[in-house]
Amino acid sequence: MVLIKGLVIFILCTALLVQSEKDDWWKSATIYQIAPLSFKDTTGDGKGDIQGIISKLDYLVDTGIDVILLSPFFQSNMVDFAYDISNYIEVDSTFGTMKDVEELFTKAKAKGLKVILDFVPNHTSNKHEWFIKSEVETDGYKDFYIWHDGHKQINEGRNLPPNSWQSEYGGSSWTWSPMREAYYYHKFAKEQPDLNLGEELVIQKLNEVLKFWLDKGADGFRVDAVSQLFEDPAFLEVPDKANDLPQTYELIERWRKFLDDYSKNESKILIPQVWNAPIDDLMRYYVSEDGTPRAQVPMNFMLINELNKDSTASDYKRVIEKYLSSLPTGAIANWFLGSHDHNRVASRMGRDRIDGLMILLQTLPGISFTYYGDEIGMEDHMDISWDDTKDIQACNADKDSYQPLSRDVARTPFQWDKSENSGFTSGKSWLPVHPGYVENNLESQMSVNNSHYALFKELTKLRKNSTFAFGDIEIKALGNNTLAYARTYDQSSFLVVINLGNATEDVDASQFKVKLNERSKIRVAATNSKHEIGEIVNLSNLHLTPYDAIIIDYYSSATKVTLSLLAVMMIIVKIFL
Ligand code: NOJ
Repeated sequence: MVLIKGLVIFILCTALLVQSEKDDWWKSATIYQIAPLSFKDTTGDGKGDIQGIISKLDYLVDTGIDVILLSPFFQSNMVDFAYDISNYIEVDSTFGTMKDVEELFTKAKAKGLKVILDFVPNHTSNKHEWFIKSEVETDGYKDFYIWHDGHKQINEGRNLPPNSWQSEYGGSSWTWSPMREAYYYHKFAKEQPDLNLGEELVIQKLNEVLKFWLDKGADGFRVDAVSQLFEDPAFLEVPDKANDLPQTYELIERWRKFLDDYSKNESKILIPQVWNAPIDDLMRYYVSEDGTPRAQVPMNFMLINELNKDSTASDYKRVIEKYLSSLPTGAIANWFLGSHDHNRVASRMGRDRIDGLMILLQTLPGISFTYYGDEIGMEDHMDISWDDTKDIQACNADKDSYQPLSRDVARTPFQWDKSENSGFTSGKSWLPVHPGYVENNLESQMSVNNSHYALFKELTKLRKNSTFAFGDIEIKALGNNTLAYARTYDQSSFLVVINLGNATEDVDASQFKVKLNERSKIRVAATNSKHEIGEIVNLSNLHLTPYDAIIIDYYSSATKVTLSLLAVMMIIVKIFL
């Protein structure tokens, strides 16, 4: 009897442990980034809106998305894709009303979707009330932004800028205010003055913004431009360090505490946008040296920044292992292959690689971030004319040089179907729809079994499996272009094999630490694969056609025995209690 009770307690504890691991909703989440302006328009003004997102919630749930990450929809002067906010706690009329956003929260939550918002603390719009007050030195607002008198010129009128720092979008990052007779600093456009985050009152105001949206139901925040939050306080021409300054980590630590204090029972997550930091700096965003928690998920752009069309399987292995082996103990990995700031993955890496790369994104350990449209392999629209160009980074250039700078290419409307404007709007779309939408759209992909979308859906389902959610990883480069990794949890394993190259490769995939079953079956195959789902593969001689990608399911007989034993034990326990 004592033995049986002990067994019951053991089983219950194990179940609870697994449960608590699973309860932390974000740890293996499938996160989907929506740019509201380009997702779905319901008013006919050619711009996506909140009601458009609401109308697609069922689509998102059906696709297997757990969390939606919404790019800014707050009141904005619309200079930079709504990243120039003029009121953090109002909804811009382009997107709808506060009531619409409340409805979105309610409906998303009812469908089990978490909602993450974009928090932009580095800068506001120059139309924000705080800036307007700061420019005229209103009491309390004088130091809200980074003001500098500049360097006096003898006999020359206006002072010179404090230094030659350049803005991300071209030109000096200092703009002269004739009203205040001083320069203000802007890392981005001149219409986006940087807040002075060294000023306690500014932090307090920003905390009020966080609280406002937490009260509405936000489950966390992407934090925009974190690497750029602080500048060298001496404004040295060549500062010791330009990004990711020590104060940045302290502020993230504060915000983490703020969220943790706000919500004791359920995690609210912080996702700092860390642009291209050296790996040690990136890791510092997770936790301080003395163990104080910082962000749960500092964005990992390494698959974008460090790999390209020519990367070999060994390059992939190196990049993935470098990241994973640098993670602090217990930290959760995350992966990006696209965002509103990058060329689309299908264009950057080649259309033929889209399946293999989506398989990669969804089967690596941790959180996956999918940029809207990547689930159907949307591509960059490379022919947006100068007149149609909207991205400030491109607009700040000229007619002859704007194209390589433009992020509009990856911001075009979602390709829902083959009707006019791809079913995005009944009006004139704010950016031209990609001309390929007639062939490549969601509706057409949904009408066939073998499509990028069908594969994507299969992957989001599969990644809910504990092996992908919590399992270990062993990575190998099996050929010049064939990347393979085994994911293992308890006694269950999957083997992912991706040929990234345009040539056939025959590889030996039998040499993993986990001994794969001789009769392992294919669970998932890329749309162009010659392999069949359910096919039993010969691991020691695996034939991969160009860009082939498969997931092999290894459900060992050992696993089956363990599970059967467990079931028998449960029955015995029930009988005796
Ligand atoms: C980072 C955002 O990702 C980018 O799109 C934006 O232009 C800058 N922040 C400035 O707001």
